[in-house]
Amino acid sequence: MPKKNAPDLIDSFEKIPVKIYPDLKEGSRFVAQQVAALIRARQAKKEKCVLGLATGSTPKTLYAELVRMHHEEKLSFKNVITFNLDEYYPIDNDALQSYNRFMRTHLFDHVDINPANIHIPNGEISKENIKAHCLQYEKMIEEAGGIDLQILGIGNNGHIGFNEPGSGIYSRTRLITLDNSTRLANAYEFHNISQVPRLAITMGISTILRSKKIILMAWGPAKAAVIKKAAEDDVTERVPASLLQNHDDVTFVVDEAAAAELTRNKSPWLTGDCEWTPRMIKKAVVNMALRKKKPVLSLTNADYNEYGLSDLLVEKGDAYEINLQVYYMLRDSITGWPGGKPNAVIPAHPERSSPYPKRVIIFSPHPDDDIISMGGTFQRLHDQGHDVHVGYQTSGNIAVTDEFATRFLDFAVGFEEIAGIDAGKSKKILEETRKFVAAKKSNQVDTPKLRAIKGLIRRGEAKATCRYVGLPDGNIHFMNLPFYETGTIEKKPMSEKDISITIGLLRQLKPQQVYCAGDFADPHGTHIVCFNVVLEALKRIKAEGDNWISECWLWLYKGAWQEWKIEEIEMAIPMSPDQVMKKRFGIFIHQSQKDMVPFQGSDSREFWQRAEERNAATANLYADLGLTHYAAMEAFVRWHY
Ligand code: F6R
Repeated sequence: MPKKNAPDLIDSFEKIPVKIYPDLKEGSRFVAQQVAALIRARQAKKEKCVLGLATGSTPKTLYAELVRMHHEEKLSFKNVITFNLDEYYPIDNDALQSYNRFMRTHLFDHVDINPANIHIPNGEISKENIKAHCLQYEKMIEEAGGIDLQILGIGNNGHIGFNEPGSGIYSRTRLITLDNSTRLANAYEFHNISQVPRLAITMGISTILRSKKIILMAWGPAKAAVIKKAAEDDVTERVPASLLQNHDDVTFVVDEAAAAELTRNKSPWLTGDCEWTPRMIKKAVVNMALRKKKPVLSLTNADYNEYGLSDLLVEKGDAYEINLQVYYMLRDSITGWPGGKPNAVIPAHPERSSPYPKRVIIFSPHPDDDIISMGGTFQRLHDQGHDVHVGYQTSGNIAVTDEFATRFLDFAVGFEEIAGIDAGKSKKILEETRKFVAAKKSNQVDTPKLRAIKGLIRRGEAKATCRYVGLPDGNIHFMNLPFYETGTIEKKPMSEKDISITIGLLRQLKPQQVYCAGDFADPHGTHIVCFNVVLEALKRIKAEGDNWISECWLWLYKGAWQEWKIEEIEMAIPMSPDQVMKKRFGIFIHQSQKDMVPFQGSDSREFWQRAEERNAATANLYADLGLTHYAAMEAFVRWHY
């Protein structure tokens, strides 16, 4: 087993202590307890407690937990003084994206902190006054006695606060130009990248390092690479978080996904004893083969020794045997029969050959994830005679532009005129919509009617895709899960209603196969809620003992943002060049998502490009490992619930 929570740094590659939690909830709870303990300890001594606070997606659950503790455990913030790390510049304090507003929404409005004790850099200040404002900010921190505990997130480029790469160890609170990568990463909060401010006011590295204690949090796979760089690699201004190695009371609190690149997880055999399960052997050998640029079957005893796998050789005997074991695992994960091969006995096949045909449901968080992430498999399942259903979990309405919606309304009016239907009502809706859109403020929430129209557009695209694949209309299910319907990026948490809608559909279909997005890095957070809803629904059905559930297997695909690691893949579905093209045209049907979508996120490629590059990359990796070279491959992992 990988060594978790190593008690000291002596036998570790990590130069900063890293605490790893199964998920962000548990990690956030731990940090909340640290914060609460400090506040209470100071209260007991009738002293002030000075906290340095961060914004962004990372600390939201921490703040929710502190608010809960305030309501349920009488945690008071009366003795707390806060200093926030940063603020966009320029920005109105009341703008939806301002960190001033963020802090009120997530923490300050819900606790008993004295407003005079709250300090956040001011994005409204005039440019000529910024220097004085920054000096004053530093002075106020000093006068408060310095920061007792500084909470940090980390940018994908290693920034802390908005100290972008290049920020020096002596930097103080100042105005800084945001890195393009940061503007892209944060574009999801705005309508598009052009609206993201180019500047920000941030505490400096030196300001941060003078805190008495520092906790940096990171969640999700997107942070894994930078956590490794900051905690294990050399100190460099190119990765500002690595400068934290100079502080003697700093802890990284991360979830398992963000810890994945740490040596103790990535190559646990290098950090001490490791249990050689078949999975671990596969991971070690696959990574060695890729590093050495050799097919698995060409690896030698010398390669094993050089790569630090001499223990494995001692335990298993010889490279030849281990290579074969891993080669077979890889080979057996490849199949053209995602629903199982009927009338065939193949014990190592990833799926069962019977029953045939199977009833299958593909859960698609947004109306296009099915075709983007598993279009080839979707088509094969249908072509191979399975009864394939799609459950579109959310309406996806926030990702349709206003221009697209008015264009469709124009069509509705024209259609009624051609058809000789009274177009009066449609015209009125078109006029109202035009007026609303013209006066709409940045990030103002759409009216329920406009949201419904946008949802309808996406429904039409999803239906057209299903018909393109060949599905009858009765197999298309629009679930419209309520957690999504906020009209903003910020979604509600999963509710009983979301679960009961999902249980209802599962019980109606009694599927033998369920496909679900296991893409936990979705920057909008929708995919993870969609996954949790399905998992909870399946678990409850299981607990209630429905007789079909024991035969129901759950397969996970990754959404548009990531792919499984090669060693994790349990079922890989190859695609021919023609199948790749067919999938591309299926994705094109989602016209509202082509060319330019609101909330594009940090990847400027279109969805079809991401899908093709990702599927080709998976196929290339299999080929590099010495297996057949296919044009593309879609990948799945089985989830045992
Ligand atoms: C926020 C801040 C930034 C974020 C970092 C990570 O006040 O200073 O350093 O912590 O950009 O952002 P998220 O948490 O959104 O991934």
